[in-house]
Amino acid sequence: MSESYTIVTGAGGSIGQAITRTLAHKGCNVIMACRNIAKDSPLCDRFNNECNGKVRIMQLDLSSLDSVARFAQDIHREDIKIDTLINNAGVMLKHYQTTQQGVEMTVGVNFVGTYLLTRLLVPTIRQGGHITFTTSLTRYIGKVDHDFFNLNTENYGRFKAYSRSKLATTLLTAHLAQELAPQGIHVNACDPGVVDTGMIHMDAWFDPLADRLFRPIISTPTQGANSSIQASASSISGHIFEQKRHYAIASKWRNHPHWQWLLNETNRIVAPWL
Ligand SMILES: NC(=O)c1ccc[n+]([C@@H]2O[C@H](COP(=O)([O-])OP(=O)(O)OC[C@H]3O[C@@H](n4cnc5c(N)ncnc54)[C@H](OP(=O)(O)O)[C@@H]3O)[C@@H](O)[C@H]2O)c1
Repeated sequence: MSESYTIVTGAGGSIGQAITRTLAHKGCNVIMACRNIAKDSPLCDRFNNECNGKVRIMQLDLSSLDSVARFAQDIHREDIKIDTLINNAGVMLKHYQTTQQGVEMTVGVNFVGTYLLTRLLVPTIRQGGHITFTTSLTRYIGKVDHDFFNLNTENYGRFKAYSRSKLATTLLTAHLAQELAPQGIHVNACDPGVVDTGMIHMDAWFDPLADRLFRPIISTPTQGANSSIQASASSISGHIFEQKRHYAIASKWRNHPHWQWLLNETNRIVAPWL
């Protein structure tokens, strides 16, 4: 018999663990989609011991489109039905790297790999189900234009790459919210705020200063996970969920002048795996 699951990508990360624990405590069945099974298996065992929900772990590396396709094939082969896909995994990298397809790694993991995963899993998501993407405040400084994929060793900056990946994710959320409405699938983004995880430490001289400055507004991973949990249970679509409020994605992003271009280019990159 096919069972219903919530998939959490990056479930072994700080916010991902908090999302998984909260859902499993509520009795949900959760699939932890993790890059490093050896590292995250003990967590999966612990959640199974602590919680009412059934938790399992499956391998997923979003920087490899082969791995993304394998993950989706396994879901289809086992006839697993999905209640909710929580696209939580993400990176912000200090140095320039590329994926196997030659895309800059931050954009490749946060946007391209996540896009392919979502496309491949849509047919397994039940009517009334949810897809949640993870955006960030940096979407306000992100740029989506014809240079989107043109990052290289010369012009790379971690905020430049990260912010464009998060703006693109926001545009994708708005697009899929409309596209999947007839199928009754709710699509939203969550913005966890500034959360005390490895991602906000810059390995730089100003870390202690930033720590003091931002300490009053920094949330715990459990607080940050709330935005994702709320987005994944909502009966609306096309909204951004923060910890304490939600609002419709702004029309400048719903009608972004370069969205169609970005969608076409991304479809071209992932076409061999679709
Ligand atoms: N922390 C913040 O202040 C903040 C603010 C706004 C948005 N966010 C977003 O929240 C999400 C969770 O971040 P976090 O703060 O919890 O950071 P984190 O602790 O570094 O967790 C990131 C997760 O993503 C996984 N991941 C990285 N590369 C991957 C890949 N190629 N394939 C599959 N999984 C991969 C990591 O796996 P490993 O454990 O194997 O490395 C980890 O589980 C991210 O999307 C981030 O952009 C965070």
